[in-house]
Amino acid sequence: MTATEPVLCTICPADKLAAHPFHPDLNIFRPPERQHEALVKLVKSERGLVSTAFTGGQTVAYAAFQLPDPFECWSKDPSGKIWELGAVEVVPAWRGHGLAGRLLQETFASGFFDDKVVIAQLLSWHYDTRRTGLSTFAYRELLIKLYQKVGFQLWRTDDPDIAGHIENALMARIGPAASAETVRCFHRLRRQGRAPWDIPF
Ligand SMILES: CC(C)(COP(=O)(O)OP(=O)(O)OC[C@H]1O[C@@H](n2cnc3c(N)ncnc32)[C@H](O)[C@@H]1OP(=O)(O)O)[C@@H](O)C(=O)NCCC(=O)NCCS
Repeated sequence: MTATEPVLCTICPADKLAAHPFHPDLNIFRPPERQHEALVKLVKSERGLVSTAFTGGQTVAYAAFQLPDPFECWSKDPSGKIWELGAVEVVPAWRGHGLAGRLLQETFASGFFDDKVVIAQLLSWHYDTRRTGLSTFAYRELLIKLYQKVGFQLWRTDDPDIAGHIENALMARIGPAASAETVRCFHRLRRQGRAPWDIPF
């Protein structure tokens, strides 16, 4: 690897994010230029934040957090304290160097999420099984381990996108200063239509 070690930009300002185009291989979720544009827009809207890693003038990794989209059940939280870890992506050439872990650790160390609940929906259709050669179950375990290191836990849900697919999972990080009301709201929303006794944890 000849490229210099990426430099992290934790909770990156919109202008700095805009000045660093996405590496062409940051293409898991959308074409890189569209994802870059969408994330700059998200940061400007103040409905999200993005931590990034740059090298050679390009963005090679990012973690994006956002308030849930209005069509998601999570947006029914009236306090605005339930956020979502929308995406974490590292270019294949830089994977396995601890970048994803460091981006998450440093973002949570900022304290911004201390009073919030951050959910992460592990959805197998986002897993890069093709390039990693991992099965969907091994990939799920990789993500669970990665997220557990920064305080996420597994939670049951009756969300059909998750409950109907055992290779998917719901995780959430309950911030150390999250209010009882926010935590209650998280538990209510993860259960949606079902009675609490159907979902023991
Ligand atoms: C998942 C992803 C973000 C991990 O990024 P990364 O920078 O390689 O992750 P890290 O180097 O911090 O490693 C995290 C853990 O995963 C393990 N890991 C990473 N790649 C692996 C692989 N191909 N096979 C097995 N384990 C792997 C690491 O060993 C590490 O575990 P450890 O701390 O016990 O050593 C990256 O693979 C990626 O961009 N995937 C495509 C997008 C995606 O799936 N995003 C997550 C859902 S939104």
